[in-house]
Amino acid sequence: MSKKVFLETVGCQMNVLDSELVAATLRKAGYQLVADPKQADVILFNTCSVRQHAEDKIYSALGQLRRHKQRHPHKIIGVLGCMAQKDQELIRQRAPHVDIICGPGQLGKLLYLLEEVERTRQPQLAVSLGRADAHRPEVERSFESYDPLREPELRTNRFQAYVRTQFGCDKFCTYCIVPSVRGPEQSRHPDEIVAEVRFLADQGCKEVTLVGQTVNSYHYRFGDGRMVRLSDLLYRLHDIPGIRRIKFITNFPRDMTDDLLQAVRDLPKVCRYLHVPAQSGCDIILRRMKRMYTVAFYRDMLARCRETIPGVAISSDFIVGFCGETEESFQRTCDLVAHAGFKNSYIFKYSPRPGTKAFELYPDDVPEEVKRRRNNDLLAIQAKVSLADHRRFIGQTVEILVEGPSKWAYKLSNHTGHDAGQPSDWLQLTGRTGTDHIVVFDGPKNLIGEFVQVFIEDASPYTLFGRLSSPVLADNGEKTKEGMLLEPITLLGSRAHDNSAEQPNPAYEDRETSFSNGSRSLYQRRLSLPIVQDQA
Ligand code: 5AD
Ligand code: SF4
Repeated sequence: MSKKVFLETVGCQMNVLDSELVAATLRKAGYQLVADPKQADVILFNTCSVRQHAEDKIYSALGQLRRHKQRHPHKIIGVLGCMAQKDQELIRQRAPHVDIICGPGQLGKLLYLLEEVERTRQPQLAVSLGRADAHRPEVERSFESYDPLREPELRTNRFQAYVRTQFGCDKFCTYCIVPSVRGPEQSRHPDEIVAEVRFLADQGCKEVTLVGQTVNSYHYRFGDGRMVRLSDLLYRLHDIPGIRRIKFITNFPRDMTDDLLQAVRDLPKVCRYLHVPAQSGCDIILRRMKRMYTVAFYRDMLARCRETIPGVAISSDFIVGFCGETEESFQRTCDLVAHAGFKNSYIFKYSPRPGTKAFELYPDDVPEEVKRRRNNDLLAIQAKVSLADHRRFIGQTVEILVEGPSKWAYKLSNHTGHDAGQPSDWLQLTGRTGTDHIVVFDGPKNLIGEFVQVFIEDASPYTLFGRLSSPVLADNGEKTKEGMLLEPITLLGSRAHDNSAEQPNPAYEDRETSFSNGSRSLYQRRLSLPIVQDQA
């Protein structure tokens, strides 16, 4: 009988991708994924260290498993990802029942570690070198690439995929732990990325999202000095048949170069959506954060994006209550959010991280209640801006990629929300425009994974509400910029049944959650991978 594994993920898209790859590796080795940790032989947590809260959740989950492990000593508990790299032995002190500690640069060893625990019944630790432990090339090598070939039945859905372009980060923003736990920035060989996307396209993948901590800093230098930038990579990926949309996240404001903006403008498959975190609207705070730009630079960068790419949607991240943030500094951030026209912003309360420069240099001097108030104030300002942004779409038809049932449809197994007279297999579906706007509408389940046209009738700050205008793929889909406004067209009939993608993409589902309650972060969400029934 196959062994059962439970895998829970907290964190950013990089973690979501890592978990998909880990799950695929384990399933290939004969493991079966289960939804209940108590049913599992192996219980794994893929963790995040960006904020204290994400770590607390994992320590609490580990605490809850202590007695379970005492009763079932043969069960294996593993901590993977950023917390494993950051806390290493500390995890074993706080949760001595943990068997495996495996950093994000060591995930390729996970199967071996599981075997070792079974063989020796001894705890196993696999982490990469710290940034100060050795010379850079050696530290780089200790973060091993982990991008095994991806099989369609082992992915969360067939039509969308994250693809890694880089590991690590070299920016060292003073508040951020990522450069320590994910190591030096290393760009993947462009041929490897192109081959992976081609492989995904052959399996029916229509939308790829390139992920890197600072994705627009991508550069691969060949031995002869030739350099491949993100814009060059986009041109190469654009040629791959089957791929309809290319997105990339997350961008660093200083690296938003003209060649990249022009590539987004000129390549129809590249979505007109840019996530470019500002973090603060105050120069003093930006300097303390070591972001390496001023507010004026950021505003100019926004203007350049909008001038070069008509219709582009831009979103941002902000940290409130960073060390030394006065009311006046915060007001500057409010002013930026009120006037920058972001589609949405993810807003976080500053969380001091041991091991960062800010932790070392500056007291965490903004009280928690002030952080909370600023967080709410900024969310309220962004909500107004987002509503205005979303209302522009009312009365227009947009093209969306249908991602799955809406959260609401999920909750309501007996869906009754659509108009009388509609077929009973219709349910509330959700999808996104090329500009990353979430659209909710009623339609048949077999549209999941398809591009459809939706006529927008209403809007909230976070969602567009519409009615199916045509479930038929536009023939010229590769030539239009999806998400740009299109003329309404009439219903042409239903698509051939395709149930290859009945699972929504949890990463995106989760993003919707973070959207709808505003302050919950895209980076602190839980992901449960699809549960597969025993094949036997
Ligand atoms: N506290 C709060 N938010 C943080 N982020 C990164 N580090 C911290 C921290 N110490 C936020 C930033 C970043 C996002 C991934 O998380 O806004 O863009
Ligand atoms: Fe962290 Fe700054 Fe790197 Fe983003 S750019 S991962 S915030 S250090």
